[in-house]
Amino acid sequence: MKALVLEGLNQPLTVKEVETPSLLPDEVLVKVKAASFNHRDNWIQVGLYAGIKYPIILGSDGAGVVSEVGEDVDKAWLNKEVLINPGNFWGNTEKYQAKEFKILGLPEDGTFAEYVKTKAINLYDKPAHLSFEEAAAIPLGGVTAFRALFSRAGAQAKEKVLINGVGGGVALFALQYAVAEGCEVYVTSGSDEKIEKAKFLGAYGGVNYRISSWVNDLKEMAGGFDVIVDSAAGEGFRDLVELANPGGRIVFYGATKGTIKDLDPRRIFWKQLNILGSTMGSKHDFENMLRFIEQHKLLPVVDKVFDFTEANEALERMKKSEQFGKIVLKID
Ligand SMILES: NC(=O)c1ccc[n+]([C@@H]2O[C@H](COP(=O)([O-])OP(=O)(O)OC[C@H]3O[C@@H](n4cnc5c(N)ncnc54)[C@H](OP(=O)(O)O)[C@@H]3O)[C@@H](O)[C@H]2O)c1
Repeated sequence: MKALVLEGLNQPLTVKEVETPSLLPDEVLVKVKAASFNHRDNWIQVGLYAGIKYPIILGSDGAGVVSEVGEDVDKAWLNKEVLINPGNFWGNTEKYQAKEFKILGLPEDGTFAEYVKTKAINLYDKPAHLSFEEAAAIPLGGVTAFRALFSRAGAQAKEKVLINGVGGGVALFALQYAVAEGCEVYVTSGSDEKIEKAKFLGAYGGVNYRISSWVNDLKEMAGGFDVIVDSAAGEGFRDLVELANPGGRIVFYGATKGTIKDLDPRRIFWKQLNILGSTMGSKHDFENMLRFIEQHKLLPVVDKVFDFTEANEALERMKKSEQFGKIVLKID
């Protein structure tokens, strides 16, 4: 089969002929129709991820058609249109993932290939209202946003929610979910154009975090926030503490801007804040997310669809934060 292989640190993805995976009894082979990028793919390429090994076929997100099933797997899966939950071995508690937790696309080969293998328990019917490209946009980002917003931060209708850096793949799902839930949602972005697009998706308003007065501008616009969703961390995190309402929850799942510095503990305890870390999601989160998407007939925002041979351009677009929504690879 053809696959996009990352052969070493800082190397481009190259199209190679590799062996089609062979199956264990509880596994299935999916003919990938579309895959999507996550920032994780870039972190692995540049060596900023735990447990890196090369060569590797990247890609945690994919949708396609089941083409082969292992001997213990229900044959009814054959030829079904599916998407894949990339999280494996979450473990027995909803509170956190087990040590064995693994994400498709490292250490196991991922979805940037004609075929990918996965455990049958990770298969879900592709929501009927979505194309393969839209379905492939969902898994990793969709479940990360769902767990962060609902399972961890407990966002509820009518609460004020801030999505920091709305252009991110995960952040946009959080925006769509919070709007669908009936929250009053505001956003920040480094791009005015992305703020306008977020308003089109239901945000009340937003500010550009590149403008020095953005914290005060946002306070004037919205007051404070009950829930703040972040993936930047870094020095700007203290501004989020400033923007949180008393009793508020700040949930974050990324550290794009690095280590959090100079947090004033007095602001946190006096306001009775909850600062919550979140990572991907359990099987339960994944299933609840798919139900939510079906119930609200949500359409994941696909930024741009690239051909298989254009994967490096696609990665470049993500590195420069040019995207609004998920960057998708068409693999048919
Ligand atoms: N723990 C987990 O399970 C998990 C899961 C998924 C992702 N992540 C991590 O979360 C981060 C985002 O992932 P992603 O796939 O959504 O990435 P992405 O699509 O590349 O989005 C990154 C976004 O970060 C925003 N950003 C950059 N600088 C910022 C700043 N100073 N303040 C606020 N926002 C800023 C940008 O938003 P604008 O374009 O609007 O400026 C950008 O689009 C990455 O670090 C990733 O590794 C973690």
